[in-house]
Amino acid sequence: MEKDYEKRNIEILDELKKDLDGVKTSNDLVLVKAKYLGKEGIVTLLSKKMKDIEPEKRGSIGKIINDIRTNVTTLIEEKDNYIKEELLKKKLNDEKIDITLPSKKLRRGSMHPFNRITEEIEDLFVSMGYDVLSGPELETDEYCFQRLNIPLGHPVRDTQDSFYVDVDHLLRTQTSSVQARCMEANVEKSPIRMICPGKTYRRDDDATHSHQFGQFEGLVIDKDVTLANLKGTLEVMAKTLLGEKTKVRFRPSFFPFTEPSVEVDVSCFKCGGKGCSLCKNTGWIELLGAGMVHPNVLRSNGYDPEKYKGFAFGTGIDRLAMMKYNIPDIRLMYTNDIRFLKQFDRKELK
Ligand code: PHE
Repeated sequence: MEKDYEKRNIEILDELKKDLDGVKTSNDLVLVKAKYLGKEGIVTLLSKKMKDIEPEKRGSIGKIINDIRTNVTTLIEEKDNYIKEELLKKKLNDEKIDITLPSKKLRRGSMHPFNRITEEIEDLFVSMGYDVLSGPELETDEYCFQRLNIPLGHPVRDTQDSFYVDVDHLLRTQTSSVQARCMEANVEKSPIRMICPGKTYRRDDDATHSHQFGQFEGLVIDKDVTLANLKGTLEVMAKTLLGEKTKVRFRPSFFPFTEPSVEVDVSCFKCGGKGCSLCKNTGWIELLGAGMVHPNVLRSNGYDPEKYKGFAFGTGIDRLAMMKYNIPDIRLMYTNDIRFLKQFDRKELK
């Protein structure tokens, strides 16, 4: 009787080996596994027959059937591992990377002319000991106008067509608001040396004006600041940003927050002062507004004008970039046209 079972063991294993030879995929293997170990499988049926065997033979025959089950399971597991390994090998082979192939070219971004100028300005003033500050773009009427000696109803408000959000709040029309905030925060501390580049807003929209544009403001407060200091500072700035040969000219002007006020022109850096289309044949280009901080402004922001003096200047960043890089329309600065931006990738623009 045991002999029959041992014979059966060999038969089953032979048949299984043949079946496994034909197995190519995990799905094939599932079918083979079911044929031997499934509910109606060959090995399962053998075990079920155990109950018909005389009790004294059950031990030895049970052991043979267990051996059969172990052998069958081992062979199937081996095949399973083999299939998985082959799959992995195939996958690795398919995904093989040839590191000797040339790579795809990565397109490098370029610096926006606006940021390029802003960084140049910041570098220059930081090297002269200035702090770089920022202030809120949504500003109160008080900081944007009143603290800068522009009371309600002052006519200069008309020249800075503003976006009001409610009666007291507007999108700031000038970075001069940061002058007031900075003085207030430092009351009677000196010196103050700061610049503040940032976004400003006015209701304008044409080739040279945008409703949103960049300005930067400069402010120095100390006990003995003079107009000559302002002149020297702006000369350094003009030469650094626009070239060593740049000449600077001061014209009397008016701003409510400075007294005296000046308009600062630079010699045309395109024609060198001879006259061309950029300078409209005058040889000069208007660069910025500036002046000595008005006593009323010092007073409204906590400084005693008898003890402290200051100078301030402010200009459009876009305007500077447009002049420097010969950009004809301010709207190009904000439309993110890749063809426009790409031009600033060139080294010679540095
Ligand atoms: N805020 C002025 C403007 O927007 C510029 C300015 C700043 C003038 C500081 C004088 C002093 O036109």
